[in-house]
Amino acid sequence: MEFPICTTLGIEFPLLAFSHCRDVVVEVSKAGGMGVLGAANMTPETLAIELDWIDAQIGGLPYGVDLIVPNKMATQDESLNEADMLAAVPAGHKKFAGDVLANHDIQTSNMDQEALAKAEIIGNNLRVSGAAKLLEIAFSHPIRLIVNALGTPPEIMLDMGKEHGVPVGALVGARQQAIEQVKAGVDVLIVAGTEAGGHCGDVSTMVLVPEVCEAIAPLREVPVLAAGGIVTGRQMAATMAMGAAGVWAGSVWLTTHEAETSGSVKDKMISAGSRDTIRSRSRTGKHSRQLRSPWTEAWEKDGPEPLPMPLQSLVAEPALARIAKLAEGGHAGAKELDTYWVGQGVGLMNTRDSVRNVVFGFKKDYVEACERLVKYLGD
Ligand SMILES: Cc1cc2nc3c(=O)[nH]c(=O)nc-3n(C[C@H](O)[C@H](O)[C@H](O)COP(=O)(O)O)c2cc1C
Repeated sequence: MEFPICTTLGIEFPLLAFSHCRDVVVEVSKAGGMGVLGAANMTPETLAIELDWIDAQIGGLPYGVDLIVPNKMATQDESLNEADMLAAVPAGHKKFAGDVLANHDIQTSNMDQEALAKAEIIGNNLRVSGAAKLLEIAFSHPIRLIVNALGTPPEIMLDMGKEHGVPVGALVGARQQAIEQVKAGVDVLIVAGTEAGGHCGDVSTMVLVPEVCEAIAPLREVPVLAAGGIVTGRQMAATMAMGAAGVWAGSVWLTTHEAETSGSVKDKMISAGSRDTIRSRSRTGKHSRQLRSPWTEAWEKDGPEPLPMPLQSLVAEPALARIAKLAEGGHAGAKELDTYWVGQGVGLMNTRDSVRNVVFGFKKDYVEACERLVKYLGD
């Protein structure tokens, strides 16, 4: 098999894995794909520790880093203060989150403390100095791809990519965003349909991938990685038939032995069907797809209007972290509420397996799908 994007990235099979878990990153790269570490919520110190660990384990194989670097860094003012951010969260939002927890026998003391710690990381990463520090750490490691999660990568990211000879990728969920990113100079587009876990738009992968390929063709040759709902090799083959150069998958790793997900969430994902996710603004303020639970249902049914990014995270993340911790310890109410980002492909994620086996499964299924299509060509 020969894939041009594999030559660019130095890998064998064009399957890129987004993961917040360093073990998943290493295992995917070792199996012939490329692991990309999601570092949006890390401090520079944590990112350095994680990348040093990856370097020690990965045996020189290629891997990447995914960050959220704000586009208009020049206007992100250095005086963003954690206490001010927290003060901007209306009392009604905090009360609503607290009531959902209390209704499930979870105590709500010290939530403000935890929100403050969260605000510190978010605040730092949004500042010019903080975001630049993350980039500096990423580029001081032998990364082979850097990706910006939301919006067009800022110039500093594009410049550092060029300087270090590292391709710069960016996620898009709509045709127009793709055109803007290509004009801005990105090297790889990750085109995520509405099926995707985490932030997503409202157009399906089936429509968005060919739509973007067609829209960018007259501008410049930029490889497209298809994303959103892809958990098998046959889906990979389908998106590549539509013009994608490869695939970017995030959800499929969440039920692997190596993933960061708790046992309680893994069980929920394994028994979930494709209709058991919801695209909601209640977690980050922007639409993101996650597992349905009484937590998401409460916000959809009776919750206050979600706050703009990053304020909604200051309400949701401390509560969800507490839920996850208690659920892991067997707390009944927390187990009910527990949720995590996952895409509609969860309906096809029916067993716990190793990352290595998932990658091998993708390869085998991809080849079989291609052979099926070739047979239709006749003699
Ligand atoms: C648990 C989880 C967390 C995510 N966090 C981020 C993130 O921090 N940055 C980012 O660029 N994408 C993030 N995503 C989205 C992925 O990059 C990708 O678009 C998505 O997983 C693809 O669809 P799939 O989940 O159906 O494979 C996340 C996805 C999941 C499942």
